Formats: sequence, structure tokens, C-alpha cells
Amino acid sequence: MGMLDISIVKRYIRMADDGWHQGWHERNGGNLTYRLTPEEVAEMKPFFDAQPRPWVNMGVTGENLAGEYFLSTGSGKYFRNVILDPEDSICVVEINDKGDSYRIVWGLVNGGRPTSEFPSHYMNHCVRAKATNGAYRVIYHAHPANIIAMTYVLPLTDRDFSRALWKSATECPVVFPGGVGVVPWMVPGGADIALATCEKMKEFDAAVWAHHGLFCSGPDFDTTFGLMHTIEKAAQIHVLACSCGQGIHQTIQDDELRAIARDFKVQLREEFLD
Ligand code: 13P
Ligand code: ZN
Repeated sequence: MGMLDISIVKRYIRMADDGWHQGWHERNGGNLTYRLTPEEVAEMKPFFDAQPRPWVNMGVTGENLAGEYFLSTGSGKYFRNVILDPEDSICVVEINDKGDSYRIVWGLVNGGRPTSEFPSHYMNHCVRAKATNGAYRVIYHAHPANIIAMTYVLPLTDRDFSRALWKSATECPVVFPGGVGVVPWMVPGGADIALATCEKMKEFDAAVWAHHGLFCSGPDFDTTFGLMHTIEKAAQIHVLACSCGQGIHQTIQDDELRAIARDFKVQLREEFLD
């Protein structure tokens, strides 16, 4: 029995591998964090390092998740290697009691640090946990090609992206009735993009990073992976339809979106509809 036999670690590794097989993680692109439950932390503790590594300040503060533990991919690590060598590729970090620093307590056996986007992940966890009474535990960042392509073509507004995606596949308004947020292009990896993203995450389960990728949040791996998958599939349909070069001749009308919402009992963000 070791860390890699623990169910949540196995499921985390499977999700990273699924993302790799989707083609969303060229080189070291993308990162995945999961907020562990107290029961999962207790199960893991016997396998934590005898000596935790030093505290590292995150440049952001989130008090509501102080003292919590996260699984994280390592910075510069490749998703394609997570399943082959998890101990080299991922880690568990503990947050200090101020909510402004982390330290590695397991993993990254050959050195390194959690993803450079850890400040964004941590702040998004803080916001989504608060908004869902603690239910949300997963933040997932990937580089899916079609949603990135859309950021070169559409106006970079929450409304334009939400409408285009809802109308690209009938299931979309059911899967993300709240729509998606859009963060303008910013330098990745720091506190500024973390704060801009968590402003969007106060309202949305997903935030598009212009010319970069997508952040998704959810209560578990299936829902969060499914959201990334659904948004990227819709983006692919949008890009394919536009690529035919004929223009969009027919699409789902706003009242038809309302009809979907009514029958599937979801609340569509009305201000995004005409
Ligand atoms: P990391 O390798 O530090 O996780 O960075 C990858 C990435 O996608 C940055 O946005
Ligand atoms: Zn990225």
C-alpha cells in the first residue's frame, strides 16, 4: 500500500492521462489541482515526506482555504508523463494558516514546484468553494485548440463566447447554463491573471484565457473534465462551421435556447439572450 494505491490519486492520474489523449496538453501545457477532503488527507498522511519542503509565498491570499491540502501537477511537467511517473510529475501541497503560502509534503521526488499557475488555481478554489458551500474541489487548465482559435475571431466578451458556444451544440445550455467568462490576454503564471480569473470564477464555472486556453471548475473529476470536453467540442463545431466559408446560415434561436432551459429545468443567464 502506498500513495499510488489511494483511490483519489488513481482517479487524478486517470484524468491527467485523459487530457493528454485529447491533445490538450502539448509539452508541459495545462495543470490540474484537486482539493483533498480531510478523510483523503488522513489516508495519505502515513506516506507524506518525513520533512516537508520550505513554505513558498504565493503572492495571493485566500483565507477560506487556509490549512487545506491539494494535489497539483508540477510546473514544467508533462501530462503525458503523469501516468508513467506520477512521483516525478505531481505533488501534494499544504496551505499555511494564513492562506498565503504552500509547502510540498509529497511527490516531485526529483525536485520542482507545483504548477506556475498555482496562484490562479488556489484563488479559483477559494472562490468556487465559497460559491458552492465547499462542494467544488477541482480546477483544471488546458490548452484545447478550438476554444483558443475562437479567441482570435470573436469579440472577447463573456456574452459573445457564451452565445456562440450555446448555439454550437444543443447540450451546451444544459451543461453550462451560466455561460463562460472571458479573461483578456495577460501574462500567465502570476498574481494579476489569478485575480482576473477569480473575478470571472465568482460568476462562471469556466473562464477562457484569450490566446492561451481554458480554466474549468467542478465538484469532481468527471464533471470538470466533462465541462472542458463539452466547451471544446462546441468550439470545434463553431470553428468547423465557420471554416466551410459559407457563413452561418442557420443556428439555434434565442427562444429555442429558452425552450431547452425550460424543459431541462436549468436557469440560463438571461442577460446573454436577445
Ligand atoms: P506549468 O508547467 O507551470 O503548469 O505551466 C503550464 C501552463 O499551461 C501555463 O499556463
Ligand atoms: Zn497554460
